[in-house]
Amino acid sequence: MIYVLNGPNLGRLGLREPGIYGSSTYADLVEMCQTVADDLGLTVDVKQTNAEHEMLEWLYRAADEGADVVLNPGAWTHYNYAVRDACAMLRGKLVEVHISNVHTREEFRHHSVISAVATGVIAGLGFDGYRLALEHIAR
Ligand code: DQA
Repeated sequence: MIYVLNGPNLGRLGLREPGIYGSSTYADLVEMCQTVADDLGLTVDVKQTNAEHEMLEWLYRAADEGADVVLNPGAWTHYNYAVRDACAMLRGKLVEVHISNVHTREEFRHHSVISAVATGVIAGLGFDGYRLALEHIAR
C-alpha cells in the first residue's frame, strides 16, 4: 500500500483560491491518483484531513508497514514539528508534494520543516506533482 496523504484545506481544492490551486476539485485529485496508480500497478490509499492527530496516526501506520508516502502537508509544511517527527519515523520513501510553487509565494511558505526528512520534494507542478511522485515510487 502506498499512502497519498493530504493535510489541511486540501479538501477544498476547486473552491479554494483557484487562481493558485486551479479549478480541479479534491475528488478529481483522488480520481487522478487512483487512475495513475492503476496504470502503474500500485495500490494507493488517498486521504485528506484537517486534524493533526489523524495525520499522525496515518503516518504511524505507514511507518509500521514500511510503506511509501506521498504527502502534501498543506500549511503544516511550514511549522508543524509533530508532523515532521512522525515523517522521520517512516522507513519507506517520502515524497513531499506541493501543488503551487511555494518559493514564488509569501516568505513564510519558502521554508518547509518536512523537507529535511523527505526523500524528495516536488512543488509548482499542480496535480502532476502527485503523478510524478507515484511514478518515482513505482520505479
Ligand atoms: C500547499 C502550499 C502550502 O503553503 C499551503 O498552505 C497549502 C497547499 C500546496 O500544495 O501548494 O495548503 O501545500
